[in-house]
Amino acid sequence: VALQPFNSFGIVARAQHLARIASEADVAALRADAQWRDVPKFVLGGGSNIVITGDVKPLVLKVEIKGLRLVEDGARAWIVEAGAGENWHDTVQWTVDNGFPGLENLAMIPGTVGGAPVQNIGAYGIELQDRFESLDAIDLVTGRHFTLDAAQCAFGYRDSVFKHVAAGDNDFGLAGRALITRVRFRLPKPWKAVVGYLDLERKMEEAGNFTPDAKDIFDWVCAIRRAKLPDWRVLGNAGSFFKNPTVTPEQCADIIARDPKIVHYPMADGSIKLAAGWLIDACGWKGKSVGNAGVYEKQALVLVNRGGREDPVTGGEVMTLAKAIQTSVYERFGIRLEPEPVVV
Ligand code: EPU
Repeated sequence: VALQPFNSFGIVARAQHLARIASEADVAALRADAQWRDVPKFVLGGGSNIVITGDVKPLVLKVEIKGLRLVEDGARAWIVEAGAGENWHDTVQWTVDNGFPGLENLAMIPGTVGGAPVQNIGAYGIELQDRFESLDAIDLVTGRHFTLDAAQCAFGYRDSVFKHVAAGDNDFGLAGRALITRVRFRLPKPWKAVVGYLDLERKMEEAGNFTPDAKDIFDWVCAIRRAKLPDWRVLGNAGSFFKNPTVTPEQCADIIARDPKIVHYPMADGSIKLAAGWLIDACGWKGKSVGNAGVYEKQALVLVNRGGREDPVTGGEVMTLAKAIQTSVYERFGIRLEPEPVVV
């Protein structure tokens, strides 16, 4: 099976077989089939946060579980449930259109509902963990069905239990073994606009500082993302390629002394978050290419496929460019950038 249509970079790769999972029963059927039961499996959602650098596991499970419903209209929150195979942006649109606001800041993020908790997606002042109730998943090794709340998901910045491999019996980590089937969101009442992010503040000013509703914020986020981020259908990419690093106030003061313009934000825990895009930009990478791997002109944090579908970038080229960027940011700022997508 060719995997190029199933990853947003448009990287060419193959797997022995791709099984579409439309329900929990499809997982049970695969596990009951001697041909597939013990074969290594790779769970694929929208393929919008992966870089494929080599052979993918022989069996790819493409999650296509659908369904959107309000499960509870409580005094303090709406609880909405979505199938893991639902498109993320369409899910956000559905909640806003149906009067269950709260996810609007996360509009236009590529991928599926099932991928959202894996990397705790976040944008414009909200992370998934701020709107998360629980999720259902199936352990592919044991076949057991289980439900996790937010604490059990161990959410962090672009991180969760689903990105970690268990190192021992008492260690947590579900990477490569959990297939998320359904996710429930907790959308607090009364709804409050989250408009503290600089780009959203600007939109507020442009609009004349009226009180926005969820649909206004949804539209603004869509406009901001369209202006800054490439559409992967036109120019292959996996969103931000590096995480924004955090440093101590001392480290930050040291960098400011040399580079007064550095973009930095204080965090609740006392550390300082730096804009990785700014660091990469400052090293002169914006618009540059190495082979078919390029640094996007409007946002240096996004690496893109310059070869299109015909002559696509390879995972190796992407990682070579990523390493070159890491080296120059380290040499200039002493900061190690960490990749954000899952490297397969
Ligand atoms: N900047 C530059 N040059 C660049 C890029 C950015 O100077 O080439 C500066 C900007 O001027 C701005 C700052 O860096 O002051 C931050 O940029 P931006 O607002 O675009 O956000 P970001 O920190 O680069 C993060 C997330 C995005 C998310 C936005 C909005 C990460 C790794 N990325 O990007 O998430 O959409 O904030 O909340 O945290 C993703 O994870 O794939 C993603 C797109």
